[in-house]
Amino acid sequence: MRITVCLIDNRPEPWIRELRKALPDAQIDAWAPGAPQADHAVVWTPPQQMLDEQPRLQGIFNIGAGVDALLKLRLPREAKLVRIDDGGMAVQMAEFVCHALIRHFRELDCYAEAAREGEWTYRRPRERADFAVGIMGMGVLGQRVAKAVQQFEFPVNGWSRTSRPVAGVRGFSGNEQLGEFLAASRVLVCLLPLTPDTRGILNKNTLAQLQSGAYLINVARGGHLVEEDLIALLDAGQLSGATLDVFQTEPLPPEHPFWRHPRITVTPHGSARTLRDETVAQIAHKIRAMQRGEPIAGVVDAARGY
Ligand SMILES: NC(=O)c1ccc[n+]([C@@H]2O[C@H](COP(=O)([O-])OP(=O)(O)OC[C@H]3O[C@@H](n4cnc5c(N)ncnc54)[C@H](OP(=O)(O)O)[C@@H]3O)[C@@H](O)[C@H]2O)c1
Repeated sequence: MRITVCLIDNRPEPWIRELRKALPDAQIDAWAPGAPQADHAVVWTPPQQMLDEQPRLQGIFNIGAGVDALLKLRLPREAKLVRIDDGGMAVQMAEFVCHALIRHFRELDCYAEAAREGEWTYRRPRERADFAVGIMGMGVLGQRVAKAVQQFEFPVNGWSRTSRPVAGVRGFSGNEQLGEFLAASRVLVCLLPLTPDTRGILNKNTLAQLQSGAYLINVARGGHLVEEDLIALLDAGQLSGATLDVFQTEPLPPEHPFWRHPRITVTPHGSARTLRDETVAQIAHKIRAMQRGEPIAGVVDAARGY
């Protein structure tokens, strides 16, 4: 079995070293133009040339959860496109979202500002029940985030494409229930995949349906948010703030207004990083299962877009 590794913006050597340890019988090398035909590829934003030159691939293993960039490319017809499911990302996403949520709910920025002035002042406690958290996308990451948020006893709403009952979560599904979901939520967490259906879904019409003083946490993809709509809603006082980890253009350009907006917190697309050891173990496990002819989790449905 031959595996080719094509990781743009990542050094392939440590990945190849770990993959060789996990799959000692496989021939594993970095991809270069003209490389021999491989059975599987381990990729991150590969060039079209790589996919065109590898028509015999059976599996294309993306080292991230989001496959929006890969689905823009022409893929070998027979290959299964496989994403990382969890692989250590879900707990990171849960801690990131809980941090942003609690920082907002407990008004920790106000305390930080008061501390800078040497002021000993209290904020009036707020009702947790007034801060229902709406999670858009109840997949691998959304469900883990829901579980973490529930630990702090916030009401949790979940929205997905198909009905997905989760204990303790008020479930909504499909476009017909989107309005009801938004109206029931005060903190909105986006954990959707970026697809033709979800691009631009965070816009002035949808965000304006959230409860007054709503807070946005976008940890999915920059393409979900209409950026100028967010600024207009914040400046109009309809939204109270946002934590954004992903942007239309990344890295976020130095002149972008988000950097300096007083109610926007910017982080550099790092809310959940790919962990190499967990990812290699998962890919090796799936490749072995495929060789045995067994079904594997995380196969992307290209028609659905995730
Ligand atoms: N910022 C970061 O560092 C980072 C890291 C990892 C991932 N991400 C992003 O997080 C996304 C989610 O990852 P995941 O592993 O949780 O994905 P997933 O397991 O595929 O879950 C996707 C969820 O979104 C729902 N969904 C998809 N299209 C929808 C639509 N049109 N309307 C309503 N719901 C829809 C799905 O509904 P069904 O349940 O009905 O299928 C599912 O619940 C990734 O695609 C990626 O973009 C970001």
